[in-house]
Amino acid sequence: MSMRTPFLTTAHGMLFAGDCLDLMATMRSDSFDCVFADPPFNIGKDYKNGYNDRQSKEDYFSWCFSWIHECGRILKPGGAFFLYAIPEIAVRFAAEMHQTLLFRHWIALSMKGTFPRGKKLYPAHYALLYYTKGEPKTFNRLRLPIPTCRHCGKDLKDYGGHRDKLNPAGINLTDFWDDTSPNRHRKFKVRPGVNELKLMIPERAISISTEPGDLVFDPFGGGGSTYQAAENLHRNWVGAELFDCQHIARRLEENFPISCAQEPPTSVFECFTCNEDHSNPLLRRLERKSV
Ligand SMILES: C[S@@+](CC[C@H](N)C(=O)[O-])C[C@H]1O[C@@H](n2cnc3c(N)ncnc32)[C@H](O)[C@@H]1O
Repeated sequence: MSMRTPFLTTAHGMLFAGDCLDLMATMRSDSFDCVFADPPFNIGKDYKNGYNDRQSKEDYFSWCFSWIHECGRILKPGGAFFLYAIPEIAVRFAAEMHQTLLFRHWIALSMKGTFPRGKKLYPAHYALLYYTKGEPKTFNRLRLPIPTCRHCGKDLKDYGGHRDKLNPAGINLTDFWDDTSPNRHRKFKVRPGVNELKLMIPERAISISTEPGDLVFDPFGGGGSTYQAAENLHRNWVGAELFDCQHIARRLEENFPISCAQEPPTSVFECFTCNEDHSNPLLRRLERKSV
């Protein structure tokens, strides 16, 4: 595994096959406008790729705090850090992020199809932590279509008789997203065994916190949802996946065949440090071109 050359490039981004911590070690501080991370939760899930998702709690959180710290370091001032997790670990992540970053929201995403374990309530949400590195530099207020009944087409709520006062552009997105469940259906997943997020989740995070041309990092590629979202929204991106990158490559090639034949703009390469051993992909690219 090498962090010297990307596994693939597109007109907007590049994916590295390897450990996100190794990759982040080659990145400059203050480089990214947004980080979106959906890590393994250490709940014994079989990722079908050899990843050990049942470490001791101590080892797991120590590893998580390392990449959380690195993600904070590579964010630009005012950049946004979205971290997706189940509530039990999200509280620990939030405490860590709170030390250096500014809390914006604990977004609750509704989750269905689970079951209560032991003496617990029925778990019905995931957390999407939203922090920024100081005051946010970008905050785009998103609006959603006014919800209607999918059978009769009528409004689901009566808005207390003030329906006519609603903004025709839609209702403000809140910190409770009840249209995100369930996860991507198995038959639409690019990688069996991986909890691929619905595309709308990284799309919303990216839309809220960045502008076209901004740079997004996702350290845990999985099925590549964040990279597809970034391509759709014309944001630049960098990604890592420790195990199988082929699924991500296939997904991007199917959806963005023209973009996949290209290289990202120079600004994307600039997030890497220039090391003497020429591990900066920009240097390698320039070397290749000058041969
Ligand atoms: C929950 S999945 C991400 C799913 C992704 N958000 C999507 O919607 O497709 C987490 C991924 O992180 C990968 N992973 C685990 N440890 C890693 C590491 N140290 N560096 C990079 N990727 C890692 C796993 O192989 C897995 O594919």
